Amino acid sequence: MNPSPPLKLYHELAPWFHLLTAPEDYVEEAEFYRKTIVSLSDGTPVTMLELGSGGGNNASHLKAHFQLTLVDLSPDMLDISRQLNPECEHVQGDMRLVRLDKQFDAVFIHDAIMYMTSEEELRQAIETAYFHCRPGGVTLLAPDHVSETFQPSTEHGGHDSTDRGIRYLDWTWDPDPDDTNYISEMVYLLKDEQGDVQIEHDHHRMGLFPRHTWLTLMAEVGFDARSIPFDHSEFEPGSLEVFVGHKISGKKPKL
Ligand SMILES: C[S@@+](CC[C@H](N)C(=O)[O-])C[C@H]1O[C@@H](n2cnc3c(N)ncnc32)[C@H](O)[C@@H]1O
Repeated sequence: MNPSPPLKLYHELAPWFHLLTAPEDYVEEAEFYRKTIVSLSDGTPVTMLELGSGGGNNASHLKAHFQLTLVDLSPDMLDISRQLNPECEHVQGDMRLVRLDKQFDAVFIHDAIMYMTSEEELRQAIETAYFHCRPGGVTLLAPDHVSETFQPSTEHGGHDSTDRGIRYLDWTWDPDPDDTNYISEMVYLLKDEQGDVQIEHDHHRMGLFPRHTWLTLMAEVGFDARSIPFDHSEFEPGSLEVFVGHKISGKKPKL
């Protein structure tokens, strides 16, 4: 289990999340995930489980195509996703352990998969995805980085509403290339309704694994797994990839 303190962004700062990263910024990538899942599924997928659904940004677009069940560890994040996606089912749970009583045509884990910081945690999340994926269905994992293409970076961004605004700086590097983690130090400047600015900081410890580890774990759990280039106008071709697992009907997992 992750011993790091709870991240402010997903708890007391959750009401600021959609100003940090806005639902409208996810149109293109949500469409890539939809098309990829549909093209690899046996039959037309109708139901989808998202693990680590956060603010529900991808869900706000995917819900036009799928019946969504959204699982997140943080009750505060579930609250803001419920405001954006009231028609979706929301469930509090840990992607390593949660067991719902149904299977889905598709399982999706977006950037929340980066919080799996050891191979054991990553395997647990993949087992959860396999458990909930129906035979013939597809699981799509969309990590921010794999070891082979990881580059240290500094990014900034943020949005304004009519009365509030946020700007953030995200400084990412890998202190020890021999372990399975990298660091993202995030600083948030939060401007409230009175124009007063508060500064907050989170230390995000994220997982970093070679492509081989992703594919091996997915295959060991039971998926027919492959890596697919992430196709998005804002990223260099070949700089990002997603992992897709097809749950073969009748195949027994090597759990
Ligand atoms: C960056 S946010 C996800 C945003 C999401 N991709 C979206 O479209 O809005 C990461 C989320 O992962 C969740 N998370 C982290 N560890 C988790 C775990 N073990 N199980 C479930 N959710 C987890 C956090 O609570 C947070 O809401």
